Amino acid sequence: MTDPKHLHDLATPALLLNWPTARRNIERAAACVAGREARLRPHFKNHKCVPLAQAQLAAGGCCGMTVATVDEAAALVDGGIDNVLVANQVVGAARVEQLVELASRATVRVAVDAVDNAAPIGVAADARGLEVGVLVEIDVGSRRCGLPAGEPTVALVRELADVPGIRFDGIQAYHGHVVGMPLSIERDEEARRSMEPAIETRRRLQSSGIACPILSGAGTGSFQVVGSMDGVNELQIGSYVTMDWSYKQRVGDAFDIALSILATVISTRADGFVLDAGVKAIAHEFGPPQIAGQQDFVVSAFDSEEHTVVDAPGHRLKVGDHVHMTSSHCCATCNLHHQMILHDGDDVVDVWPISARGYAV
Ligand SMILES: Cc1ncc(COP(=O)(O)O)c(C=O)c1O
Repeated sequence: MTDPKHLHDLATPALLLNWPTARRNIERAAACVAGREARLRPHFKNHKCVPLAQAQLAAGGCCGMTVATVDEAAALVDGGIDNVLVANQVVGAARVEQLVELASRATVRVAVDAVDNAAPIGVAADARGLEVGVLVEIDVGSRRCGLPAGEPTVALVRELADVPGIRFDGIQAYHGHVVGMPLSIERDEEARRSMEPAIETRRRLQSSGIACPILSGAGTGSFQVVGSMDGVNELQIGSYVTMDWSYKQRVGDAFDIALSILATVISTRADGFVLDAGVKAIAHEFGPPQIAGQQDFVVSAFDSEEHTVVDAPGHRLKVGDHVHMTSSHCCATCNLHHQMILHDGDDVVDVWPISARGYAV
């Protein structure tokens, strides 16, 4: 296939990024932190695409990138991005070695919540004559990883001071249970309430003479509120660049949906049609995909790898027509594709690899 110039030249299903919309989302987030102490640390898990990360950093307001895996960190470091936080625990000799090798080439920090997941990193780093910066993770209500705020966190920070090869750089505190809350008033309230113990713990460390330069947390649904709280200086927003229909329902006008999946009508009947994209092309953890711009068209079956069945009485679509679908979960959808096709209207403006999808090793 020659390089596609127009959307109608594309093989489907294809992952599309509306570039003017994505660029506007990036600029809006940067504008939200202008003049504030808190910086954005965009979460790469949203798209896993290095050129898009470079565009986020170039827009300003950022202190670096957040990642979920060491493979994601490797993609960024190999792409020339220097300041990366692995906001998860890294365990197992192979992953620890991979992490420490990256830390020998760039500033790469990692979350820990016990001596058991911190010490092996220290041992591997010390063997190379390095120190890896760690953030102690506090569980601010998500019940994923992390320690209770206050004394248990302070106690671990004190223990880590005796572990060679690591340096305590601050606190990781992500409230996944908050960013998913549907109502903005309740979300804002819970965002503040959940972050207060982490801020208090940071103050307590500082007042006892322990430097705690970083407190990193929040997401697309909470970063504006959290960014106005004294004591939080990094905002790990992810989904704001691409968005999806489920996040859009929660954040309203703040950001717009830039990500879609281009699909082709492969069969029609009077009251509907079938598309050539199924669960292999679109993640659906938070609900089935929607047909962009067509609220009357309802996805009635989404359980096949290569089909979506749509109820659409009165539709005028023909076999071969293209349709844009939107996903309920942008991050997992990007993970299903090798590339994203940037477009402006019907024109293809670039094609970017999603190099950190899946697992590299
Ligand atoms: C640790 C961490 N920080 C930040 C985010 C970004 O969240 P959002 O996509 O809501 O902006 C996530 C998302 O899962 C996360 O796991």
